[in-house]
Amino acid sequence: MVKISPSEITPEHVFLNRRRFMAAAGATAGALALAGCSTTPLSGRATDLVESDSPAVVVRRPQNLPPALAHTEPTASVNQDELGDPLNKFEEITNYNNFYEFSTNKESVAREAAGFNSYPWQVEITGLVNNPMVLDIDDIYKRYPQEERIYRLRCVEAWSMVIPWVGFPISAILKDAEPKSEARYVRFVTVYRPEEMRGQRSGILDWPYQEGLRMDEAMHPLAILATGMYGKPLTNQQGAPIRLVVPWKYGFKSIKSVVTLEVTDTIPDTTWSAAAPHEYGFYANVNPNVNHPRWSQASERRIGENGRRPTLMFNGYEEEVAYLYAGMDLTRSY
Ligand code: MTE
Repeated sequence: MVKISPSEITPEHVFLNRRRFMAAAGATAGALALAGCSTTPLSGRATDLVESDSPAVVVRRPQNLPPALAHTEPTASVNQDELGDPLNKFEEITNYNNFYEFSTNKESVAREAAGFNSYPWQVEITGLVNNPMVLDIDDIYKRYPQEERIYRLRCVEAWSMVIPWVGFPISAILKDAEPKSEARYVRFVTVYRPEEMRGQRSGILDWPYQEGLRMDEAMHPLAILATGMYGKPLTNQQGAPIRLVVPWKYGFKSIKSVVTLEVTDTIPDTTWSAAAPHEYGFYANVNPNVNHPRWSQASERRIGENGRRPTLMFNGYEEEVAYLYAGMDLTRSY
């Protein structure tokens, strides 16, 4: 496990974003926590909620907040990533989604996911840990300071977006669980609710969706559990109420609607590498020099832009993460 302080490794933009976000008030964090407490039609507090104006965008906004907290529009603290590229629009990010539990059609995921109950919610941290935990999502908001992270998301299908996530490092939750000395990997599992998730009633993938990271990847300061986006709780189509975001890896690693983190000593099975082992590896690091067997990974289409742009090694996070793979043959598809 790497012993390195976040200030040594976290890129400047992350710190800047974090500072601005926290300064913009316990405000946004507070708003998020409150909103998170209220994101359910089942909670008996549904009257506190107003739906988003756009039928496809499932954001429930709490009413009766102090004016400073009651944003009428989703907000991000800055409008570009550290490379100077603009953020994708809220509508783009929430209407072009991969979430096979609901649909294989990216443009209908938002509609199909609209009735999903993402609150109340619990996350279990289990396996090779001294302190196994079951945390309510409300506890998670309270325990772990939420910060903004502006990251590129590069899908293995060669499209990308710039997304202002809100979340916290996975390392925070893992440290609290106290991994045992033999801990090597973390397995992540999506909720299994075929009654609410139409895709889970089909055999297109083995359900529930599972992913995994090596322990040092999971402990890396850029790897986060996201609970929000544009200063609001995650929409259902994005994996509400909590999902993984690992920005240097292809998007399929960023598993949605997570209910279990299991610390293991063996490499976890992952949904896509089980479905197509020759096409999707465990590591799945963004690499423009290693093509997918069926298409090039050298360039990508940024949603909202015309034409293509070159894909960057480790999705532009090479300086921060390359050391994790020292000695590995990166020309191989893992
Ligand atoms: N997580 C689950 N549970 N189910 C999925 O189908 N799709 C993955 C990933 N996480 C997926 C998932 C893929 S292929 C991508 S590219 C990203 O989610 C897309 O995230 P987004 O819809 O928020 O852009």
